[in-house]
Amino acid sequence: MGLIELDLSGLFAPGTGIARESFEASQPRLVEARREVIEVDASQYASGDVPPEKRPLDAAFLDLPDRLLGAYRAERETSELARLLKIARRLQENVDRVVVLGIGGSYMGARALMDACCQPYFNELSRGDRGSKPRLYFEGNNIDNDAARGLLHLLGGGRKARSVEDRWALIVISKSGGTIETAVAFRVFLNALRESVGEEPLAEWIVPVTGAGGRLERLARDLGCRDTLPVPEGVGGRFSVFSSVGLLPAAVLGINVVAMLEGAAAMNEHFRTAPPGANRVLDYVNACVLAERGGATLRVMSVWSKALEGVGLWYDQLLAESLGKLEIGATPISTVSTRDLHSRAQQHQEGRRDKLITNIAADACRTDPIRVGRASQDADGLNDLADRTFPEILRAAMEGTNEALRAAGRPTVDIRLPSIGEHEIGQLLQMLMLATVVEGRMLGINPYGQPGVEAYKRNMNRLLGRGA
Ligand code: PA5
Repeated sequence: MGLIELDLSGLFAPGTGIARESFEASQPRLVEARREVIEVDASQYASGDVPPEKRPLDAAFLDLPDRLLGAYRAERETSELARLLKIARRLQENVDRVVVLGIGGSYMGARALMDACCQPYFNELSRGDRGSKPRLYFEGNNIDNDAARGLLHLLGGGRKARSVEDRWALIVISKSGGTIETAVAFRVFLNALRESVGEEPLAEWIVPVTGAGGRLERLARDLGCRDTLPVPEGVGGRFSVFSSVGLLPAAVLGINVVAMLEGAAAMNEHFRTAPPGANRVLDYVNACVLAERGGATLRVMSVWSKALEGVGLWYDQLLAESLGKLEIGATPISTVSTRDLHSRAQQHQEGRRDKLITNIAADACRTDPIRVGRASQDADGLNDLADRTFPEILRAAMEGTNEALRAAGRPTVDIRLPSIGEHEIGQLLQMLMLATVVEGRMLGINPYGQPGVEAYKRNMNRLLGRGA
């Protein structure tokens, strides 16, 4: 299967202030950053000999897709992926709703995969139309009384489940096992689940995904959960989409996680071997760094499909938590086009010259193109577009927007997916994770860890009368 495409022509438009010569001049530094990521980081991580300024060094996400696939092919039945798929099948066969509890990196990846790969109204479909896959809901991703109550109500509000259609299960995801949002949600939803299962064994309907040695792991053991999945050592939360954190919810939905991992592995291979100038990861980083040097401190990810909205939000977290350090690092903003053109295009076109716009678009849609159609009374004046389709109108909107931005000297980059499928999403997410790490190394920022998040947590605990 082909690779997703990167088009940088909008970066060098007159007025952007970015020259091809600067792009080429930066390439040796990019190759050096790649070497640091692939060789230096990897060997320091493996030996445990990590210099203080590089701690934490969560470099294990890099070859995670390759490792999971390798083990799956070598030891089919006993591999982690096979185990995960078996758990997903058990849930599919026995429950009609699954609630995924988790926040940040333990939420955004699964959300992005569901948005990208499922029918847009998946949860509203009948069980038959869902291919007997459960509906999926996310909670524990906020402290929101009314949202949590709303979901508890939907789940039966304490009623005992009598059939598959009533039955629900919990996937609780926390690498540390101690995140307060997830932990309090788990306590509350566990009580509701207890009422729902009645005399049946409670632990059957709980799948914890967690790191070793945390409270969630202990709790899972106390509850007698037989299916606890690991968050691998050395994989940070926002880099964990291709671990059980993202893959289990995706597999429950019937998403082809093997194809997705193959896409991610293909991007790894490309990253390792393609020269700068023809390397999606290195070239994207080059564009981002040059644009930022020229004052584009805002990174707008404009996705041209609602299916990619979750990817935009996932990238918001990836970039913000990875590079928003040392008072530098670009600020991410994601938008859905054409929806948000009606709220943001004005500013992109004529506002401050502080933005790099990355368009992400698919060449083909998943379903048959909708035609505008001819009306006998042409009161809305659309008959000239009667034979045009939604994809054609969208293409015109994207080209028109890019043309306008170029004319105004605003830098743009296009990432083009042949379609929004598992393989392409696997490539895209791995490309963005690799790019973030390479950019961190270029800028001298440790892309791993999020020390700044601790301050609010300390304060919150103090205000709740708990020790730090
Ligand atoms: O990227 C990260 O590491 C964070 O966003 C975490 O994923 C988030 O804080 C949730 O942490 P945990 O999985 O430990 O509950």
